[in-house]
Amino acid sequence: MNLSRLIYCSRAVADLDYEDLKDIMTKSQKNNQPVGVTGILCFGNTIFLQILEGPRQEISKTYNRIIQDTRHFDTEIIDFQEIEERLFTDWSMRVVQLGDFSRDSVNHIILKYSSQPEFNPFKMTSKQCLNFMMEFGQLTK
Ligand SMILES: Cc1cc2nc3c(=O)[nH]c(=O)nc-3n(C[C@H](O)[C@H](O)[C@H](O)COP(=O)(O)O)c2cc1C
Repeated sequence: MNLSRLIYCSRAVADLDYEDLKDIMTKSQKNNQPVGVTGILCFGNTIFLQILEGPRQEISKTYNRIIQDTRHFDTEIIDFQEIEERLFTDWSMRVVQLGDFSRDSVNHIILKYSSQPEFNPFKMTSKQCLNFMMEFGQLTK
């Protein structure tokens, strides 16, 4: 089975609330684990950045479901490639909110991988998104 990684971003609807995030987390963890999908979902500046790793077919099925979700829009694929190994293995889907962490440490990582001080994966390269998520993932462990 081909191991693949998908990186995409999207914009949250204006009325997205904490209950929505909790629901996304619960559903992701329930659905992803049995099909071998792992990853991380980051939410900040009303933008989602998600990395999904697992069997190619399952990533595609999961992504096709996700893009139909009315809680977000402007879904944009940043990268989709075959990988030799996973980088995000800890959770079936870890959901992290930028706002939950110290401003200084988060801002430092944002600035490190962006041309501007706000979190905006629509303007970041795939490598910058991946590095951001790895570093942010370490911070939130
Ligand atoms: C930004 C975002 C990320 C999501 N990530 C996942 C995911 O990784 N896995 C998943 O099964 N559902 C995810 N969802 C939820 C799906 O869109 C959908 O609501 C869910 O898969 C339906 O699950 P159910 O058929 O068990 O009710 C995500 C939704 C959003 C808005």
